[in-house]
Amino acid sequence: MQLGLVPLLILLFCFIISISSAEFSGKVGVNYGQLGNNLPSPSESVKLIQTLKAKRVKIYDANPKILKALQNTDLQVSIMVPNELINNISSNQTLADQWVRSNVVPFYPHTLIRYLLVGNEILSAPDKSIWFNLVPAMRKIKHALKTHGITKVKVGTPSAMDVLESSFPPSNGTFRSDISGSVIKPMLKFLFKTKSFFFIDVYTYFPWSSDPTNIDLGYALLEPTNVTYTDPVSGLTYHNLFDQMVDALIFAMKRLGYPDIRVWIAETGWPSGGDYDQIGANIHNAAIYNRNVIKKFTAKPPVGTPARPGVVLPSFIFALYNENTKPGPSTERNFGLLYPNGSNVYQIDLTGRMPESEFKALPPATNNKPYPGPIWCLAKKGANKTAVAEALSYACSQGNKTCDPIQPGGKCFKPNSLAQHASYAFSAYWAQFRKAGGSCNFGGLAVQTIKDPSYGSCKFPGAKL
Ligand SMILES: *[C@@H]1O[C@H](CO)[C@@H](O)[C@H](O)[C@H]1NC(C)=O
Ligand SMILES: *[C@@H]1O[C@H](CO)[C@@H](O)[C@H](O)[C@H]1NC(C)=O
Ligand SMILES: *[C@@H]1O[C@H](CO)[C@@H](O)[C@H](O)[C@H]1NC(C)=O
Ligand SMILES: *[C@@H]1O[C@H](CO)[C@@H](O)[C@H](O)[C@H]1NC(C)=O
Ligand SMILES: *[C@@H]1O[C@H](CO)[C@@H](O)[C@H](O)[C@H]1NC(C)=O
Ligand SMILES: *[C@@H]1O[C@H](CO)[C@@H](O)[C@H](O)[C@H]1NC(C)=O
Ligand SMILES: *[C@@H]1O[C@H](CO)[C@@H](O)[C@H](O)[C@H]1NC(C)=O
Repeated sequence: MQLGLVPLLILLFCFIISISSAEFSGKVGVNYGQLGNNLPSPSESVKLIQTLKAKRVKIYDANPKILKALQNTDLQVSIMVPNELINNISSNQTLADQWVRSNVVPFYPHTLIRYLLVGNEILSAPDKSIWFNLVPAMRKIKHALKTHGITKVKVGTPSAMDVLESSFPPSNGTFRSDISGSVIKPMLKFLFKTKSFFFIDVYTYFPWSSDPTNIDLGYALLEPTNVTYTDPVSGLTYHNLFDQMVDALIFAMKRLGYPDIRVWIAETGWPSGGDYDQIGANIHNAAIYNRNVIKKFTAKPPVGTPARPGVVLPSFIFALYNENTKPGPSTERNFGLLYPNGSNVYQIDLTGRMPESEFKALPPATNNKPYPGPIWCLAKKGANKTAVAEALSYACSQGNKTCDPIQPGGKCFKPNSLAQHASYAFSAYWAQFRKAGGSCNFGGLAVQTIKDPSYGSCKFPGAKL
């Protein structure tokens, strides 16, 4: 009897372990951003999320239409307190209670709300005053949940990698000194006490694209390459950039006395398109990255990272859709797994079970080397005229003789139109400043072209590498 009991206990123990790891492994979620004016309705979106076989969904607000569409599905849901409310909530428990009462209570538990994120990338916001209100707001939201008898919902906040001032080598991971003691330390204490997660946005695309000569593309795409990096202090060996970035965070938390806080990948992904000067943003790389990272997230047993081998990394892929109203460079509008019409940008299986060989061949990557130019920078058709005029005079005030040819009598003065002059000025500005990090953006008023807009004796300067 005695002898029989031991294997039974072991069996039972293994069973419990496999249940609890199954709870996290194999469950990749998706970020459902809504910054588009052409996106499917919430109920259609929920169907698409299910077709993608996502098990979790994260939204950037608490849109009641979406929460209603998610009712009685098996999708676990992460909702968000908007950034604008953090300052007020941080000093007003009544307001926190009210927010939970009107945004969580009506949908809980029939919508599986499990994560409540307070703000988005708050510690990257230029306005510092909000940084110091973040943790007080998180505490008040947690308290409000408790008041309403909701204990299953974890409270956190997603951060960008710029919360670290050093991430290399990973063992040197260190939080920024302007937030380390005042914000991060109390936050880690809160996350530890409430058994929550450190939510982090991890994009290998950004470090790689800003330094593609020194960082191997395959290493950034989690491809099986021969490239490895061994951290001289920890002795840990890395096979991809993603693990390096996550471990930098883990070492930074450890440095502040919290070695065990779980990490949640709040966003990760790769753009399938971008501007001419945005290297490596293509369907090929986006498909490879997301398939590889999903394989990693869903591996059984879990792989973890060199600093935390075997530990599950729960995750949300960014993003469900290409979102056409996001500001910034074109890559920002091309992170979607789906086009706004609901069709796939490339085949993807969020369960990670589909063998590589069953995917159709991908289009070749055509921009994995920097585009040498020339590229011209034009004023967008239909852009706000007042704003274009302001941008025009800014561009002309920069550099050397930037706008001489569009002065009366100059070779590009005619046609004397605002759009034409602005396009000349944007191109002339960018041709001088691209190498120094200048961009063809002008607050979203500009667009790149590789078709030479010159005419007659009017020659538009083009930006070159
Ligand atoms: C914050 O509170 C102040 C004072 O009560 C109020 O005027 C303001 O509108 C509130 N801000 C937001 C975003 O609700
Ligand atoms: C706190 O929020 C409540 C609810 O919005 C509001 O009525 C009250 O005036 C706020 N208190 C302070 C001190 O701003
Ligand atoms: C380690 O991080 C500190 C700042 O936190 C930085 O000053 C130092 O240069 C880093 N060390 C290395 C080897 O990069
Ligand atoms: C890795 O190295 C081996 C031996 O040097 C070589 O045969 C192989 O092609 C390399 N693999 C990759 C992906 O570079
Ligand atoms: C959906 O949109 C994409 C991108 O605009 C396009 O290539 C594709 O043909 C469209 N699919 C359908 C079914 O309309
Ligand atoms: C156009 O731009 C100007 C200046 O930037 C701004 O004040 C104005 O509100 C804008 N108009 C519209 C319709 O967006
Ligand atoms: C403008 O011309 C001056 C003098 O020739 C030169 O020193 C400066 O670097 C130039 N500036 C730009 C932006 O080309």
